[in-house]
Amino acid sequence: MASDPVVRKKLTGYVGFANLPNQVHRKSVRKGFQFTAMVVGESGLGKSTLVNTLFNTTLYPPRDPIPPSAERPQTVAIQSISADIEENGVRLRLTVVDTPGFGDFVNNDDSWKPILEDIESRFDAYLEQENRINRQKTVDNRVHACLYFIQPTGHSLKQIDIEFMRRLHQKVNLIPIIAKADTLTDEEVHSFKQRVLSDIHFHNIQIFQAPVYENEDEETLGEHEEIASKIPFAVVGSNQEVVTPDGRAVRGRAYPWGVIEVDNEEHCDFVKLRQMLVRTYMEELRERTDQVLYENWRTEKLVSLGVPQDSSVFKETNPAQRVAEERALHEQKLGKMEIEMKMVFQQKVQEKEAKLKQSEEELYARHRDMRDALEKQRSELEDKRRRLEGGRPLTPTEKTATKNTTRRFLRP
Ligand code: GTP
Repeated sequence: MASDPVVRKKLTGYVGFANLPNQVHRKSVRKGFQFTAMVVGESGLGKSTLVNTLFNTTLYPPRDPIPPSAERPQTVAIQSISADIEENGVRLRLTVVDTPGFGDFVNNDDSWKPILEDIESRFDAYLEQENRINRQKTVDNRVHACLYFIQPTGHSLKQIDIEFMRRLHQKVNLIPIIAKADTLTDEEVHSFKQRVLSDIHFHNIQIFQAPVYENEDEETLGEHEEIASKIPFAVVGSNQEVVTPDGRAVRGRAYPWGVIEVDNEEHCDFVKLRQMLVRTYMEELRERTDQVLYENWRTEKLVSLGVPQDSSVFKETNPAQRVAEERALHEQKLGKMEIEMKMVFQQKVQEKEAKLKQSEEELYARHRDMRDALEKQRSELEDKRRRLEGGRPLTPTEKTATKNTTRRFLRP
C-alpha cells in the first residue's frame, strides 16, 4: 500500500506541541514504572547480593542455605519479591523473580522448564488483560530481563548454562553475568569471556544487545560500544562499605592483599551492567519484551489456536482480528475447563467405585464370619445331641450353653 505524500510545513507562530516530550515525561513519572528482573543461577553465586548492590537497598534478603537434614524441594521453585523504590520523585515498582533450586539437583536436565513456564504464564496473564474490555489498568508482570549467573570456573559454559540459554533466549532478554569475578585474575576473566562468547555464538543463542539507532551521536555510539564490549559482565557484588588503603570508604570486598571496589570500572564490570540494566537501557529492555519477545509468543500462540496473524495490520486497528483472537482464546479457555471438569468427574467416579468395593468386601467378610460362627454352633449342638442320646446327663455348664445356643437360634 503506497503511503500518502507528506508535505513539510513551517509554522508561523508557537503552537505548543514541542511540549509533547515533557507531557509524556510527566505522565510517565506520575504513573511510575514497572520493571521485572529475573535472576537465575546456582545457589551461592551471589544473586541476592548483586540485586541489592544494583538497587542499593536490601530488597532481597539472602536465604539461609537448606540444612542437609531438611527435606529438599524436588524442583526449581519460583519466588518473586516486589518493592516500590523512588529516586528523585520517579517511582519504580521493581520485582525480582528468583529461581531457587536451579542447578542444585543431581539431575538438572529439566531445570529450565519451570522457569520457561513461569515466563510464559506471565505472557498469558498479559494477553488476558489485553483482551479485556477495560484495558486501563494493565499490570505488566512480564519478565523484562533475565540475569543469568555463570559460575566463575574459568573453563567454558556448562551443559546446564547452554541448555538454559538455548531454551529461553527467544522468550526473555538474556544478560549473561560471570559471578564472583574477584575469584579470577584479569587474564582469566578475559579468556573466560572469550570462551563464553564463542559458546554462545556456536549455539546460536541471542543475548540482549542494545539497539543502535540511525543518526545516533558519537557519544551514544561510544557508550553503546563500551557496554557491548563488556558482555558477559564480570561482576563483584557487595553491600558492605570497606576502607581502601588510601582512606576512601567504598562498596567492596576487602582481602589481605587489597580491596576490590564494586563501583570501580577497573576492578569489575558492575558499573557497565548497571548502566545497561538501569540507567540506559531499561526502557529498551521493556520495549523489546513487549514488541519482539511477547509479540512473537503471542503470534505463535494464536496461530496454534487457528487464528491467522497478519503482521502488516496492527492488532489495535483490526476489530475483525481482535474478535477472532478473543473467540479463539475463549474457546481455548472453555476447552481447558472441560478437560478439568472431566478429570474431576473421573476422579469422583473412581473414589465412589473404590468406596463401593470396600463396602462389598466388608459385607462379604461379615457374612463369612457369621457363617463360620453358625457352623461352629451347629457342630456344638450336634455334639451335645449325640451325648444326650448316649445317655450321659449334661453338666450344669453344658445345660446353660445349650439354653443360650437354643435361645440364639430361636431369636427372630
Ligand atoms: P542463594 O540465595 O542460595 O541462591 O544464593 P545467592 O546466589 O543469592 O548468593 P548470595 O548473594 O546469598 O551470596 C552467597 C555468598 O557469596 C555470600 O557469602 C556473599 O557474601 C558471597 N558473595 C556474593 N557476591 C560475591 C562476589 O561478588 N564475590 C565473592 N567473592 N563473594 C560474593
